[in-house]
Amino acid sequence: MSLLLLKNIGQLIQVENQGRPYKRGSEMADFPILRNCWLTIKNGRIQEIGAENSAPPTSTNSIDVQGATLMPTYVDSHSHLVYASNRQDEFAMRLAGLSYEEIAARGGGIINSAKKLRAYSEEALFADAQKRLAELIQMGTGAIEIKSGYGLDMESELKILRVARRLAKESKVEIKTTFLGAHALPPEFKNDKEGYLSLLINDMLPAIAAENLADYIDVFCEENYFSLEESLRIISAGKEYGLEAKVHVNQFNSLGAVPAMVNRGALSLDHLEVMTEADIESICESNTIACLLPGCSHFLEIPYAPAKELIAKNAIIALATDFNPGSSPNGNMNSVLSLACVKMKISAAEAFTASTLNGASAMGLSAELGSIEVGKLASLMILKQGYTLESIPYHFGHNLIETVILKGEIQ
Ligand code: NIG
Ligand code: FE
Repeated sequence: MSLLLLKNIGQLIQVENQGRPYKRGSEMADFPILRNCWLTIKNGRIQEIGAENSAPPTSTNSIDVQGATLMPTYVDSHSHLVYASNRQDEFAMRLAGLSYEEIAARGGGIINSAKKLRAYSEEALFADAQKRLAELIQMGTGAIEIKSGYGLDMESELKILRVARRLAKESKVEIKTTFLGAHALPPEFKNDKEGYLSLLINDMLPAIAAENLADYIDVFCEENYFSLEESLRIISAGKEYGLEAKVHVNQFNSLGAVPAMVNRGALSLDHLEVMTEADIESICESNTIACLLPGCSHFLEIPYAPAKELIAKNAIIALATDFNPGSSPNGNMNSVLSLACVKMKISAAEAFTASTLNGASAMGLSAELGSIEVGKLASLMILKQGYTLESIPYHFGHNLIETVILKGEIQ
């Protein structure tokens, strides 16, 4: 039985005791902080939170954090972490003036990544992803959702999901996996979309379910990718295997997917850069989480999702990295927080709730992570001396984290 005491905590951020699964609208700014307190960890979970100015228990195994700020680790609820090599060549094309869509039309984009990934061994894919994950841990990520979608054939999609499951086994990060076979139409089905949909629904999904490789289903619902009607077919098929929907919608166009997916009870709708008034109303009145990806807006120079309006209208907002080699080659949640504050004009408290508790909700993990609460997993970060939550968006590009503890273990 392992017991660890963290004492002399200056500020303990996002302390909860009501088991709330998420915070919506104005609740996102409601931000409980305990000062001058302590916390004990037993068997990887938060055992006790000491009242302000109370004396800590005597314990041999303790860390004196000397007045530092302690926060729950980030929950990154949308990533494509398992990919093969980068797409820096396409970045150079972008800098020369081509758009993301123009590059995709010339054989770049998702198809380019799929070509590279198919040639990669499972072992190499795992080694690369493990290195990336190690970097993310040092930047405070304690949970991450990982999508497939860079394989686009049976073997390669399964390969990605197996790698993600193995990462979960071999690290202290909580990982959920999402099947995104409908990320793009692979070249061999260029003139046979129905054929690919049939492969995806009738062959890939059953194989993935048989190996229990996915927790969620996703589709890139967008012009030139998958129509709303096709997307609905895919998420309905996923539902038959118990996979809830987390869907890429409204990145470049509003195809009516927001109300349609909300009506089908999607867990989260992600991107939302292009929103009509009707889209906004529909998600704000629902329990579907609006997962916003400001790193993608920054990198592709596309509009930012209307976070402020969504919060004003009572939505549940999560923030995530969308870490992938094409539209957001950045997995650092600290910079996502900063972009959300500066570009979406939301407060540090709102951005942090979106990056922790609401992100956990968007991965079905809010009973385990996302706040400092007795019984939850002890996945915490200790900031460097003298910094508080507000310092993170302010010192954009810096890493202010001194120590990361995942499930009670220092990383
Ligand atoms: O979430 N939008 C679709 N998929 C990814 C980008 C994929 C890529 O360019 O490789 C995204 O932005
Ligand atoms: Fe994405």
